[in-house]
Amino acid sequence: MNKGLAAVILAAGKGTRMKSAMPKVLHPLCGEPMLYYPLAAAKQAGFKQLKVVIGHRAEQIKESFAAEELTWIEQTDQLGTGHALMCAADSLRGYSGPLLLLCGDVPLLKPETLQQLQNYHSQQKAAVTVLTAQMPNPHGYGRVIRDGERVLSIVEEKDASSDQRAVTEINTGTYLFDTAFVLSALKGLNKNNAQGEYYLTDVVAAAVAAGQTTRALCVDDPTEVMGINDRCQLAEAEVLMRWKINADLMLGGVSMVDPTTVYIDNGVELGVDTLIHPNVHLHGQTSIGKNCIIETGVVVVDSQVADGVHLKAGCAIEESQIGPACTIGPMAHLRPGSVLKGSNKIGNFVEMKKSVLGERSQASHLTYIGDSEVGQNVNFGCGTITCNYDGVNKHKTIVEDDVFVGSDTQFVAPVRIGRNSLIAAGSTITKDVPPDSLALSRVDQKVIEGWRLRKQKKS
Ligand code: UD1
Ligand code: CA
Repeated sequence: MNKGLAAVILAAGKGTRMKSAMPKVLHPLCGEPMLYYPLAAAKQAGFKQLKVVIGHRAEQIKESFAAEELTWIEQTDQLGTGHALMCAADSLRGYSGPLLLLCGDVPLLKPETLQQLQNYHSQQKAAVTVLTAQMPNPHGYGRVIRDGERVLSIVEEKDASSDQRAVTEINTGTYLFDTAFVLSALKGLNKNNAQGEYYLTDVVAAAVAAGQTTRALCVDDPTEVMGINDRCQLAEAEVLMRWKINADLMLGGVSMVDPTTVYIDNGVELGVDTLIHPNVHLHGQTSIGKNCIIETGVVVVDSQVADGVHLKAGCAIEESQIGPACTIGPMAHLRPGSVLKGSNKIGNFVEMKKSVLGERSQASHLTYIGDSEVGQNVNFGCGTITCNYDGVNKHKTIVEDDVFVGSDTQFVAPVRIGRNSLIAAGSTITKDVPPDSLALSRVDQKVIEGWRLRKQKKS
């Protein structure tokens, strides 16, 4: 059984306003599904038992988080936020610590804020402590009705009087509860409201009626608690999160010419004194070393780039490993399984796939290297092509150390080129070449003098 503090995260709703076939909480934000962030914040704030209430497309959500240790709670019919927590009651039996409740659609919440909320809740010995914010435009949120530091009730927009609607302090949908109190109060909820739902917010008035302490903690920055209900809000949240990612990296020693146009996923690592030009995308499980230069239009996905690498304009790099001091591009494409051992030069319009290049080997122009093992100090001339696919199977090209490949060479795989050989320009290589050899496969040149003049006379 899980140990540690418990949190319930609500994520069963359909997210109607997203107008999407995908559940709302799976929409990505800086490379992670939205739900990832409240889960991470809860964990970082010390809540280790995470219970996620799901309903709409539950299977899809479970699959996306299969690697995480979570308790899934099914809410088959979405009868409201109060009903959602009721569904988790069984899994909280025997738990007596404070209970954190979060919404899956509030992704910018910081772990430090959750810690403050918990400290305040325990200091005040409250039964319910709600996290609130002052919103210049509170439309759509529940309003917090106070009497000094006591919270009397939370009134949903649709149930509010015009006086109540004028209140700008809103419910963020984040709470700390005394577990025993909230579980008993949930039993008393009803659906007598504008939406015909069991409102979790009604437990506040229930606590007041029972003579319990209710408190609110107001966050300084209301953007931290914005709820995502539609795609405009999703884009707004992405801008804020992206800025935070970039700011943290810049404060850690990375330079960005224009950080508003740099798109870096959560968790991507960058070393100090690396310079990022505008319009760069770094996605997934990517790391970039120190002293690198990443020029405009570069897209890197799930790749590891070592120190001192220069990625020139317009390179696309996927699931690849780039060793130290390589220079790549402009406009090179490294497809999955490309491994550059170090000090390699890959020039313009070069494509690589599932191939290893030993140290200092290079392909400077217009080349395709697929399913190949290449040693050190190999030079591929312009227009070298590994013919790796016969229409049915893929075959390997092996090029040993110190080979020089003349321009416009085709290697018809499978083929092996022994070390220190030279392939003459314009050759189609279909057989293995032993070490230290010259291989050439061209028909002798024929010259027919005067041919052009004779042709022209006829027509
Ligand atoms: C809720 C609050 C409102 C608060 C706002 C903050 C209530 C009644 N209202 O309103 O005071 O200002 O959040 O963003 O609680 N969910 C379920 N099961 C359900 C219904 C909802 O799991 O039956 C989940 C949703 O997936 C979502 C969260 O609960 O993650 C909030 O639900 P939503 O319908 O978005 O509530 P709001 O109307 O935004
Ligand atoms: Ca909401």
